[in-house]
Amino acid sequence: MFNNFPLWPEQASTMAGNVDALYIFLIIVSGLMTLLIFVCLVFFAARFRHRQGVLAEQIEGSMPLELTWSIIPMFVFLVIFFWGAIVFFKERTPPRDAAEIYVVAKQWMWKLEHAEGQREINELHVPVGRDVKLIMTSQDVIHSFYVPAFRLKQDVLPGRYTTLWFRATKAGTYHLFCAEYCGTQHSGMVGSVVVMEPAQYEAWMNGGTTGPLSATGEQLFAQLGCSTCHKADGQGRGPNLHGVFGHPVVMEDGRSVVADENYIRECILDPGSKHVRGYAPIMPTFQGLVSEDQLNALVAYVKSLGSDKGDAPGKVSAAAPQLQNNQAQGNPEQGSQVN
Ligand code: CUA
Repeated sequence: MFNNFPLWPEQASTMAGNVDALYIFLIIVSGLMTLLIFVCLVFFAARFRHRQGVLAEQIEGSMPLELTWSIIPMFVFLVIFFWGAIVFFKERTPPRDAAEIYVVAKQWMWKLEHAEGQREINELHVPVGRDVKLIMTSQDVIHSFYVPAFRLKQDVLPGRYTTLWFRATKAGTYHLFCAEYCGTQHSGMVGSVVVMEPAQYEAWMNGGTTGPLSATGEQLFAQLGCSTCHKADGQGRGPNLHGVFGHPVVMEDGRSVVADENYIRECILDPGSKHVRGYAPIMPTFQGLVSEDQLNALVAYVKSLGSDKGDAPGKVSAAAPQLQNNQAQGNPEQGSQVN
């Protein structure tokens, strides 16, 4: 439908049909209302026009009429509200087993990194028929990730992650736009999403990689000295991170927070705001010490430590324990020496 109508982008994701149906419904409702208003306008103008010798009569309200034009629109708006909410929540709730892609926006390009390690700039390759989750952040100002053919748009913000997901339904190359004014070259911050048949995609995937993102994260975890405190056996000065992702964590003040991507991010950049019960607040901030790409790798690593309680703790060796815990030095709170 509408394939040759330039105002209507191609439908290439499972969500596109839902969004279009709602949009068409809105156009029809607005069109009918506009029509009704203009028909009434013309009709009443003719019917109650000024005539010689006829005095205008003042009408003082009508309960049935007022109830009618209040109650009918209310139901129409409720339909729009619930329909919209259903589409919104579907679009905002990524399926659990989706393939994950980290997106870093910057003036003025899109940097994309697959969990498997492939890096791309202004191009995103995905297979047909697979759920894909985008974990997005910005290195500078606010951008917006917009793929019209998928009916997807989400602001990409500095300092936090926003997520999106989609499942492409048709092989092809689709526009990727930045949809938030972000400076001089905003209009040039474009790219494409290349949807490939699974076999082709496999071939593309195998064409050179730096290894999984989580492995990069594991190296960083050791280099930065994280592993000296966050020990897999739970004996470190920081919490064991195995099986943390996706589960509630109890804070010192009794709050319970579910460990998602944003939680891990904040723990790294602003550990003071996330004081886990039972541990001294000795973790230093890594604000300014790690790039967005490195942060993504660290997040991917913590996620890879398992979100299932059944995961055997300690199966990943705490890398490079010989590294000194210099990250914690100089912290006045550092009272208890464990090692
Ligand atoms: Cu980035 Cu506009």
